[in-house]
Amino acid sequence: MPADPEGVVTASASGRVEVLGNHTDYNEGLVLGAAIDRGLTLRGSANGSGLISLRSAALSREVTVPLTELAPLTGERWANYPLGVVHEFRKAGWPLGGFSAEITGNLPPGAGLSSSAAFEVATARLLMKLFQIEMAPLRLAKLCQAAENGFVGVQSGLLDQVTSIFGRDDHLVYFDCRSEEVRTISFPADLALIIAVSGVKHDLSEGHYNARRAECFAARDALGLGALRDISLAGLAAAEDRLTPVQLRRARHIVGENERVARGVALLASGDAGGFGELMFASHESSRTDFENSVPELDLLVALARREPGVLGARLTGGGFGGATVSLVRAEAAESIAAQLAANYQRQTGRTAETFLCRIAGESRET
Ligand code: GLA
Repeated sequence: MPADPEGVVTASASGRVEVLGNHTDYNEGLVLGAAIDRGLTLRGSANGSGLISLRSAALSREVTVPLTELAPLTGERWANYPLGVVHEFRKAGWPLGGFSAEITGNLPPGAGLSSSAAFEVATARLLMKLFQIEMAPLRLAKLCQAAENGFVGVQSGLLDQVTSIFGRDDHLVYFDCRSEEVRTISFPADLALIIAVSGVKHDLSEGHYNARRAECFAARDALGLGALRDISLAGLAAAEDRLTPVQLRRARHIVGENERVARGVALLASGDAGGFGELMFASHESSRTDFENSVPELDLLVALARREPGVLGARLTGGGFGGATVSLVRAEAAESIAAQLAANYQRQTGRTAETFLCRIAGESRET
């Protein structure tokens, strides 16, 4: 898109919901996600100086940093997402100048809906427009992931960036993290997704995420595998004496999730939405007991969803340790289920859950 007369351009990116395939991405596994109709937008222009100025409307914060002195900030940590992207562009050899940008959005941060990836991808798209850079979508995803790994310090996989970038209206994104195959799968028109934000903030940079990753890699090494992708549940059961109890639980979650994604794709193809929903419940149970990345509030949201007629499945979505759940529901009952879920949650916890129907949509333009 060309710049407007004053050289101001806008760039947006969608948040995402992880539908099945939890913590499988960095284990070279399978994931199924969807981009949602909420995201972040950056609006900015080149400023002809050697400075980057960023302003977050939501946080009422501003930072200015010299382009040539990029390093992770310890104070204004929110700015590490865009600064990490600038750093990666420079590392890749793209010539950038200084720029100023304002960030707006409607994606709740800390909800497990990938505000981080949306921030990175929107920044990258802004830089591409401002400095006339072209890049293939998968390379863009990897560059944003590298920004998060390097500047934010979360050793996340590619799920969030790939889903945000490849997301299309009314389609799920299937990603094989080993072969890097990306496929979009049509989402049945008579179904809907409800997000319920628990109000318990998850902050993956606090270290739980990297700890789980390390446990998965320890299990992989103890089993002598290239990745946890390379074993079945039956194989794992036969080799369990080689693992500590914690390693076994972590590995069982990952291997089970891979199997659930593969089965889920087949069930969708055969029109078995009920069977798909059951896989979502099983996924949550596995998070709760084996991966231990749930919290009581997410368990409650899933239990409350389960007893509503019209709900086919529910699970935590994203990294875990707080954040949100996603429920698969019959579209005609979706509004009333969302309201009921919020009311029941409030009654039992005193907390307000933000529940909303999410439209599956590519690059968000609603911010
Ligand atoms: C976070 C990470 C992703 C992925 C999910 C869990 O969203 O950023 O890479 O690992 O958690 O599936």
